[in-house]
Amino acid sequence: MLKNLFGCIGEYKRPSLLAPLSVILEVILEVCIPLLMASLIDQGIDAGNMNRILYYGALLVVAAMASLACGALSGHFAAVASAGFAKNLRRKMFYKVQDFSFTNIDHFSTSSLVTRLTTDVTNVQNAYQMIIRIAVRAPIMLVSAFVMAHSINPRLSLVFLGVIPVLAVVLFVIIRIAHPIFLRVFQTYDKLNNVVQENVHGIRVVKSFVREDFEEEKFKEISGSIYRDFNKVEKIMAFNGPTMQACVYTCMLLISWFGAHMIVSDTLTTGGLTSMFTYIMQILMSLMMLSMIFVMIIMSRASIERINEVLEEQPDIADSQSPVMQVENGDILFDHVSFSYSKDMEKLCLRDICLHIRSGETIGIIGGTGSAKSSLVQLIPRLYDVTDGRLLVGGVDVRDYDIKALRDAVSMVLQKNELFSGSIKDNLRWGNESATDEELVHACRLAQADEFVRGFPDGYNTHIEQGGSNVSGGQKQRLCIARALLKNPKILILDDSTSAVDTHTDSLIQKAFAEEIPNVTKLIIAQRISSVQNADKILVMDGGKIAGIGTHEELLASNPIYQEVYHSQVKGESDNARS
Ligand SMILES: Nc1ncnc2c1ncn2[C@@H]1O[C@H](COP(=O)(O)OP(=O)(O)OP(=O)(O)O)[C@@H](O)[C@H]1O
Ligand SMILES: [Mg+2]
Repeated sequence: MLKNLFGCIGEYKRPSLLAPLSVILEVILEVCIPLLMASLIDQGIDAGNMNRILYYGALLVVAAMASLACGALSGHFAAVASAGFAKNLRRKMFYKVQDFSFTNIDHFSTSSLVTRLTTDVTNVQNAYQMIIRIAVRAPIMLVSAFVMAHSINPRLSLVFLGVIPVLAVVLFVIIRIAHPIFLRVFQTYDKLNNVVQENVHGIRVVKSFVREDFEEEKFKEISGSIYRDFNKVEKIMAFNGPTMQACVYTCMLLISWFGAHMIVSDTLTTGGLTSMFTYIMQILMSLMMLSMIFVMIIMSRASIERINEVLEEQPDIADSQSPVMQVENGDILFDHVSFSYSKDMEKLCLRDICLHIRSGETIGIIGGTGSAKSSLVQLIPRLYDVTDGRLLVGGVDVRDYDIKALRDAVSMVLQKNELFSGSIKDNLRWGNESATDEELVHACRLAQADEFVRGFPDGYNTHIEQGGSNVSGGQKQRLCIARALLKNPKILILDDSTSAVDTHTDSLIQKAFAEEIPNVTKLIIAQRISSVQNADKILVMDGGKIAGIGTHEELLASNPIYQEVYHSQVKGESDNARS
């Protein structure tokens, strides 16, 4: 599990080593200070020797300054190392997510991926910083302070040994209880992120349905559940401090008691007792730190597990060994294709589809919602892999192509499409980075977008807001079509991409396609018969199967589903015309 993480230390190995090294130096110096102090008291003050006082005083100052410098250096190195480590880890996760197929993305929710890339990485970053600094410091400090105490007075130092088993038991119990709660808290974080993200993304819908109260309630519930869990876990963690302090103060009492007796019976010096107290404080500090590290480790263990799930997710769509780099033509053959989102032959979404589309044909696809129209066409650019059967494009199985080559040849306007923040030009160039301005304009002309783009004061340089919120639904769809056209594809798929475009503009788009890109295979999913009636063939989908295929006239004569859709739409139009 940790292998993935260690790899991310990368170029930050040097500060990752220098941090613990400076900590070790710092601890050695700190542990020497009480010894110097004891000598100063015993050999200088008690003996009334001024030279010794000055000598040990100077040594004390040097040791304190040097330990301070080492402390500062270790802080610096640890910060550099942990920030660098987090940067590498985030990058590794981000790149991994870019390799995800649609199936992998279905597996994690978007909000969960966001939490994993942000909060979880920050937890691990903090834990790493602690581990290379404090996790080194605390045990070394603990052991050396104990050894020093032992060298001053072995019998007195035995008092410390009584404390350790008590602490160990308390820490063990805390970890056992806290770990599952932390795991739960992080899962609730996912939910919280989900609610916030969904709300902010769909804030207009929330407002138009006046659902603010409901959303607030949902938010309150989740954030309340995080509060309760954190409260619970903090209460358990809170036992840590008092237990530790009780142990240390008991030590102090016992040492004062026995120490005083020993001074009276001349088996311990005053300086010895003073340094004994300093060592108790050092032991207290290191125990405190150890308990903090335990908390960090419990928290980060949950995060590490979640990060690992992302890093170990296997992208289920990968390039084949010797991929075909060129798609010859836009011929498509579905050969007994079945498909299930869960790869389960019992829960098929598409069932035994056989279909041949010749290069350059225009195919309309019609069917009720959920009839698997989108699922059918998503297989062509290999957004999902077929579960059974074969799908050939240009005579070659899609799984044998280089994915980039295939997706460049098969341009698809997704049903849930997005524009990204940036200018219109930037967005269009997603289709083809090196497209000239003329090519941009040409694609926009075909998609009937040129006119309205020129109507904007900044024309093609108009800034598009995130998600395309400052253009209308129909404008956004036309820009998405233009973007897809810029790829110069062999196959163009429009998944309900003109649903928000008026019928007149829609027919202009169809006409432009027929005249200007006659050799491109075109698959057009639509709800309106008028969008597809001029197609070479129309496919009627019903419940994951092809319920009919033919020209508009053929289907109108023979296919009951098509007839029903046609009549409802024609009737709707004539009703509209009458009113
Ligand atoms: N990512 C997914 N994971 C699991 N099931 C899915 C997923 N996407 C779609 N489905 C299911 O597959 C079936 C077909 O959905 P599909 O999106 O292909 O329908 P559609 O014909 O495109 O519908 P619409 O006209 O509403 O776009 C539906 O029952 C849907 O619930
Ligand atoms: Mg669909």
